[in-house]
Amino acid sequence: MCFSKEIIPKELWDNTMKATYKREWTHQAIKKIDADFNRSSDTHLIKLDLPSCHGIDLYFKDETTHPTGSLKHRLARSLFLYGLCNGWISQDTTIIESSSGSTAISEAYFARLLGLKFIAVVPRTTAREKLAQIEFYGGECHLVDPKDIYDESERLAAELNGHYMDQFTFAERATDWRGNNNIAQSIFDQMALEPHPDPEWVVASAGTGGTSATIGRFIRYEKSCCSDTKLCIVDPENSVFYDYYNTGDKQITSSIGSRIEGIGRPRVEPSFIPSVVDRMIQIPDAASIAAVHLLEELLGRKCGASTGTNLCGAFHLMSEMKGRGEKGSIVTLICDSGERYLDTYYNDNWLKEKGLNTAPHLAKLRQFLVSGTFDI
Ligand SMILES: Cc1ncc(COP(=O)(O)O)c(C=O)c1O
Repeated sequence: MCFSKEIIPKELWDNTMKATYKREWTHQAIKKIDADFNRSSDTHLIKLDLPSCHGIDLYFKDETTHPTGSLKHRLARSLFLYGLCNGWISQDTTIIESSSGSTAISEAYFARLLGLKFIAVVPRTTAREKLAQIEFYGGECHLVDPKDIYDESERLAAELNGHYMDQFTFAERATDWRGNNNIAQSIFDQMALEPHPDPEWVVASAGTGGTSATIGRFIRYEKSCCSDTKLCIVDPENSVFYDYYNTGDKQITSSIGSRIEGIGRPRVEPSFIPSVVDRMIQIPDAASIAAVHLLEELLGRKCGASTGTNLCGAFHLMSEMKGRGEKGSIVTLICDSGERYLDTYYNDNWLKEKGLNTAPHLAKLRQFLVSGTFDI
């Protein structure tokens, strides 16, 4: 279409120019995100040898190597692209997000890439290191009671005429679950040359439920691999996902927040899709923390406690497979690094203060390394 300033009214001309400018800005923003992706490399798949489970191979998808250090880098990229292509984000939009920290770090990174103001609405209990990283990327932290993160984000977005990203609603639909280098496709591509390329189980945990939805849909959709793979979601104490999965009651809430940062929610989040989950296991918080302490000995590095939740689930399923005399593989995730949690999960005083006794769990986990038998 060709417009000429002389023959159309000024207001229509101005609106047309604004829309053209907005579209051009959106294209440039998407180009910047694509270029950032092009500069980044895929995350590694690490194999851990456990002699007590000979013939059952355990792999970790190491999501800590994303530029912002967690699996939330993938989600933040998808949410920005979704918001841009829906016309919700333009050159002067303030971005607001409710988060337990990891998503906010990654979104602050992308907001800075696009030159946008970013405000994270986070629980007061969020690890200090995470708050520092949000601020490092130019974001602002707005600390509230854990139960208030949703309402406060909506309120701020209305007050500032900004855009509330709302990861808890949009995570499951912003990611292309059919492929496009999502986490599931990347895992199965990297498994291709392994002795058991189609894992028996993928074990993950849920914050938004987005990772779970992506993997669960992919293993149903993709016929060339993983058609027999099942998805196990592990859930911490004080989270409602496990009870929701078993009862179907969407109204369940918990008044106590999860102590495993990043996973476990006090309400059923819209992005958690139970129909793509083949099994759920509930993991005591002290066991998750004991598991990352053990993992440090096995991998030589610290991981966040949600990785420990995943590890407990993986050991449980390996033990069951061993009991049935089965061979095969299991894949789980390293979600973020333990360096973010030196004040908490790696601090004996904090553990004592919270009444978390890791010793009996550590003993059981160590026993698994010898016997291959483990019951959570
Ligand atoms: C450290 C960590 N682990 C796991 C998850 C779970 O990911 P998802 O939101 O895709 O369910 C999150 C989510 O915030 C997280 O921060």
